[in-house]
Amino acid sequence: MKAQENTIPKTMKAVFLEKQGGPFITREVPVPQPSKGEVLIKILAAPVNPSDIAGLKRISDPADILSVIPGLEGSGIVVASGQGLLPGLLAGKRVACSSSHHNSGTWSEYLVTKAGMCFPLRKKVSDEQGSMSLVNPLTVLGFFEIVEKENHKALINNAAASSLGRMVELIGKKRGIPVINLVRNRKQAEMLEISGSAYVLDCSDPDFINRLRESAEKLKATILFDSVCSYLLGKMTEVLPRGSSVVIYGNLSGEESIHFNPRSLIDNDIKISGFYLGNKTKESGLIRNIINLRDVSKLMSTDLTIKVQGRFPLDHAQEAVDTYLSNMSAGKVLLVPESKGARL
Ligand SMILES: NC(=O)c1ccc[n+]([C@@H]2O[C@H](COP(=O)([O-])OP(=O)(O)OC[C@H]3O[C@@H](n4cnc5c(N)ncnc54)[C@H](OP(=O)(O)O)[C@@H]3O)[C@@H](O)[C@H]2O)c1
Repeated sequence: MKAQENTIPKTMKAVFLEKQGGPFITREVPVPQPSKGEVLIKILAAPVNPSDIAGLKRISDPADILSVIPGLEGSGIVVASGQGLLPGLLAGKRVACSSSHHNSGTWSEYLVTKAGMCFPLRKKVSDEQGSMSLVNPLTVLGFFEIVEKENHKALINNAAASSLGRMVELIGKKRGIPVINLVRNRKQAEMLEISGSAYVLDCSDPDFINRLRESAEKLKATILFDSVCSYLLGKMTEVLPRGSSVVIYGNLSGEESIHFNPRSLIDNDIKISGFYLGNKTKESGLIRNIINLRDVSKLMSTDLTIKVQGRFPLDHAQEAVDTYLSNMSAGKVLLVPESKGARL
């Protein structure tokens, strides 16, 4: 291992779940060492994402809980490199990074990860914004790859008041693809309308399904991206134009099964599939991924600013998660290892 900093401590603070279901606590653990092809990153900021929470809920072995450091993405400085060309090239760079081991996540002072899961941040991109530049932006670009490949004229996105939803709207505008934004209450609908979204539907409106039918038909919106998976999904699917696709990319409702009317799927030639960024990047190959990372980097240094509602030190991880879960649409919550106290 080559260290770029001679100040790397022996131990670090990291967030763990005390037991399944919580609370989040911090423990002092050894700073991990990068192996061949890996780098050690001093973390500057890391968001709380739905996938972090969902991932922890999926751990079934209580023993695993004790070793998992959450945090899928973040930003930081590469302070040590394992053997290899890429780790060497990243030495000393400020990067966006994604974790590659369950027991080394970004909710900690240091992260060890594969060098291929880091990319250098442009000067214009702040540590905070850079910490959110992988998971959601790359997912949205993946959506538009599907939209463009399958030649959809417009798209529908559910849970559209999310950070990801705001990016879908932005890219839709840039590429001339109308987006029908589905939200769960009137307050979110107003928020989106004020921010300039032309098509917003409130799922709690008693006439929602009819409105969806009309808007989808009018705009020829033949693809629905859904991250909620509520009981309404089956009903929504029944009113999509013939030949539509439904892409499920999240399960915010926590529903374990969804009811679809088989007759309507057959008669209307509806295709249902799942989307997971990890699988998509494997399928896309190196060149496509490099192009997408470059596009994200450009976007983040120009038009894309992700809303942040609070910053918390690692010791306040439980408060950070509670703040986030109590109002996800208010913006992302970040864990900032060097911050001295909570800042809202
Ligand atoms: N498949 C993939 O590869 C992939 C990659 C990235 C993200 N995702 C998914 O994309 C979704 C959005 O992520 P994000 O980081 O942008 O989230 P976010 O900014 O934290 O926002 C979450 C949004 O979902 C809403 N929401 C939460 N529970 C809901 C429910 N039961 N019904 C309706 N709306 C609900 C929240 O509304 P309130 O404010 O009212 O709670 C909020 O507007 C998540 O499901 C995430 O897992 C998937």
